[in-house]
Amino acid sequence: MARVAVLGSGVVGTTLANGFLKHGDEVVRGSRSPGKLAEWKAAAGPKASTATFAEAVKGADLVVLAVRGSAAEEVVRLAGPDALAGRTVIDTTNPISDAPPTNGILHFFTTLEDSLMERLQRLAPRAKFVKAFSCVGNAHMVNPDFGGEKPTMFLCGNDEHAKREVEGVLAKFGWEWEDLGGAEGARAIEPLCILWCAPGFQRGQWSHAYRVLRRK
Ligand SMILES: NC(=O)c1ccc[n+]([C@@H]2O[C@H](COP(=O)([O-])OP(=O)(O)OC[C@H]3O[C@@H](n4cnc5c(N)ncnc54)[C@H](OP(=O)(O)O)[C@@H]3O)[C@@H](O)[C@H]2O)c1
Repeated sequence: MARVAVLGSGVVGTTLANGFLKHGDEVVRGSRSPGKLAEWKAAAGPKASTATFAEAVKGADLVVLAVRGSAAEEVVRLAGPDALAGRTVIDTTNPISDAPPTNGILHFFTTLEDSLMERLQRLAPRAKFVKAFSCVGNAHMVNPDFGGEKPTMFLCGNDEHAKREVEGVLAKFGWEWEDLGGAEGARAIEPLCILWCAPGFQRGQWSHAYRVLRRK
């Protein structure tokens, strides 16, 4: 059993927190206003608790960052780069800008020469960021049902041990994975969110996930 700090009071935080609880872990949800999570905490049971971002990461075996992309750097500051040092941080965030999508194509506030996760890694250099869960809708994050086919999650990060740890989470949550190397891999992974969302915005289709096919 691990103690998982899930930073984020939104739907991704709820989905992943419930996923960890379902698999037997202890979860502390972080928010600037932990009181807003009282209802979730009451329903989630004795292994669930809530705290500020800074309190949540103390004593956590694993941290999940599930906050608005434009606030991610601020939340890392609030959690504390020193407190995050040495900890594995699953980064689910996407650098979606405030501008509305153009014909269903989202706008990002980053360029293809940088990524949000690299910015976070620079801000907390001793944290072990691993990008994961960023390129699929929350409804499919935990043990998704694609008729027996396992979808592929793309991950990356500078620390090999941290990536193996996140692969363990992905295995539990019913995923295969594709390791895209160091933190720079997030330049390729984050834009997959734009691709994933396009059929949703354009045609109302949100029930899909990526899968890598390989010729044997
Ligand atoms: N929605 C999806 O299906 C999906 C799928 C894949 C990836 N993602 C990514 O996952 C992340 C979370 O998405 P979400 O839809 O669950 O939640 P969200 O609405 O994008 O974010 C909510 C969280 O962001 C924090 N936040 C917002 N503004 C803030 C600020 N100015 N300063 C500090 N914290 C702030 C909130 O903190 P408080 O709790 O303090 O209010 C809250 O915890 C996003 O980066 C999104 O792109 C989403």
